[in-house]
Amino acid sequence: MFIHTSMAIFYPSRNHGVFYLLFLLLLILVSSMCVLGRPATFQQDFRVTWSDSHIKQIDQGRTIQLVLDQGSGCGFASKVKYMFGRVSMKIKLVPGDSAGTVTAFYMNSDTDSVRDELDFEFLGNRTGQPYTVQTNIYAHGKGNREQRVNLWFDPSADFHTYSILWNHHHIVFYVDEIPIRVYKNNEAKGIPYPKLQAMGVFSTLWEADNWATRGGLEKIDWSKAPFYAYYKDFDIEGCAIPGPVSCASNPTNWWEGAAYQALNAIEARRYRWVRINHVIYDYCQDKSRFPVTPPECFSGI
Ligand SMILES: *[C@@H]1O[C@H](CO)[C@@H](O)[C@H](O)[C@H]1NC(C)=O
Repeated sequence: MFIHTSMAIFYPSRNHGVFYLLFLLLLILVSSMCVLGRPATFQQDFRVTWSDSHIKQIDQGRTIQLVLDQGSGCGFASKVKYMFGRVSMKIKLVPGDSAGTVTAFYMNSDTDSVRDELDFEFLGNRTGQPYTVQTNIYAHGKGNREQRVNLWFDPSADFHTYSILWNHHHIVFYVDEIPIRVYKNNEAKGIPYPKLQAMGVFSTLWEADNWATRGGLEKIDWSKAPFYAYYKDFDIEGCAIPGPVSCASNPTNWWEGAAYQALNAIEARRYRWVRINHVIYDYCQDKSRFPVTPPECFSGI
């Protein structure tokens, strides 16, 4: 939009040669800055998608409070979509008796037919019982790739960082820099990989006591409502769509760099630690659901 207005004002002519040059420089600058060049903020980069009255900005807009009560849950989403990159947020989950509540942070193509989606879902629990993080990946419309990890800390006591890295090589879910899930691009082996559609960044707090806690056995205790979750330090680095088309395929974007194409040795060790000690469910091991193990399960890291 900016480029168009500039074009109208600084139309090239002999008298405006200098402006024309400046305009060209500006054009080059803008198109090289396809990446969001500043920290994301709630006000500038997000919008409320569900129940305005249940989302409050506190701490001068730096922290967002999500509320779930018997009337409603709530949600917010990024104003634009992104193609590859890394999104991260600090989240402090519902404390105490959070059974039946689900706090979600995910990327979604927001398309009905052929959905791509990368999910973090935080499943609440009874006081003192561990929170479960469920991750799932939809590629070209197919999901059913749930994994569950019990967190090794109390995620309601403090803010922790949750990130999703998405590039041409793999998708990695991180909890405080510790990889808890890796999905490799194995298109060469015919395994679908999300890379054809941009995805928005979403978050919701809602009631899901029909399935969330111990498979739906533990119901939400409304006498403990309202339930609160907190978000801050929004960070989105990616190619905004709409934006310069060339951005998404630009191999010099930092998230496509050599250091981000596979886990490094430290990350790989941490990932093994999570796999051995904290994974409580993996669809890859679920023979009753998948008598034939899905092909991506053999791809390693
Ligand atoms: C809740 O706690 C129970 C008992 O420790 C545990 O089996 C379960 O995995 C926890 N998480 C959920 C979401 O039910």
